[in-house]
Amino acid sequence: MSNQRVVLITGASSGVGQSTAQLLAARGFTVFGTSRNPAVVQRVAGVEMLSLDVTSDASVRACVDDVVGRAGSIDVLINNAGHELAGALEELSLDEARSQFETNFFGVIRMVSAVLPLMRRQKRGHIVNVGSLSGLSAIPFLGIYSASKFALEGYTEALRHELKPFNIRVSLTEAGFLHTPMMNHRQVGATSIAEYAPWRERAFSAIRAAEEKGPGADAVAEAIVNIVSSPHPRLRYLIGSQAKLVANLRRFLPAGMFEQGVRRTFALDGNR
Ligand SMILES: NC(=O)c1ccc[n+]([C@@H]2O[C@H](COP(=O)([O-])OP(=O)(O)OC[C@H]3O[C@@H](n4cnc5c(N)ncnc54)[C@H](OP(=O)(O)O)[C@@H]3O)[C@@H](O)[C@H]2O)c1
Repeated sequence: MSNQRVVLITGASSGVGQSTAQLLAARGFTVFGTSRNPAVVQRVAGVEMLSLDVTSDASVRACVDDVVGRAGSIDVLINNAGHELAGALEELSLDEARSQFETNFFGVIRMVSAVLPLMRRQKRGHIVNVGSLSGLSAIPFLGIYSASKFALEGYTEALRHELKPFNIRVSLTEAGFLHTPMMNHRQVGATSIAEYAPWRERAFSAIRAAEEKGPGADAVAEAIVNIVSSPHPRLRYLIGSQAKLVANLRRFLPAGMFEQGVRRTFALDGNR
């Protein structure tokens, strides 16, 4: 497959998106990355940065038109933009939950709907959605974030079936906790209910420790470059040893044992 393919990757100002954009450019792909504020983003050689807010129909339309105007096609769309909302489910407002889905789930739908007419006309394309291990096994106190990634699993699986006749491939990445800038700007719900504090704080500490020990963005970037370079890309790609282990445990352990393991991992079983 030629490396002259045109890639549009959302959320390329930091973390996974930035590393992936950089690696794709180094491998000779024509790369367009995005940020809500591209003017202040550190430049990466070979990556053209465009303005994009995936929560806005107009912004998505303008970004896709801009890429097509400059490059003539979009061969690969990588839906990476995302953020993380934390807190007990009872603490999170409906507006906060909607805003999480607006970026992590509806943002993906906006992007896919905007590129599909072009990809169907081209009779080729590859869409890679950046999911998470939390879309297979929900993380306590990251429940709405996990729900947005569970939703992405179902959407991506159905999309793959529907687009197969048009020679458009669809894949999904599932990484565990990563050491990326996301760990430092996680949004915490505005309301806090004191009764949850002991469990919330223990879970937050466990999440923080897992992120500190987790692989960096480069591990996901390398996986994504392999996925888009593969002649026969699969639907799902577990990335990193933690994601592979947890997915296997979920599959093979009795449900009760798996649940106990999750409670232990996030230190949820002490009374206070
Ligand atoms: N970190 C982890 O532990 C982990 C694990 C598994 C999966 N993931 C997934 O990997 C992806 C990237 O995460 P990361 O860890 O690399 O996070 P990150 O460093 O915080 O990067 C997030 C990116 O998303 C962009 N973004 C956020 N809201 C946006 C919006 N409304 N419209 C457009 N772009 C938006 C940001 O761009 P601007 O702020 O410049 O607009 C930024 O480039 C996410 O989908 C995340 O869920 C992360």
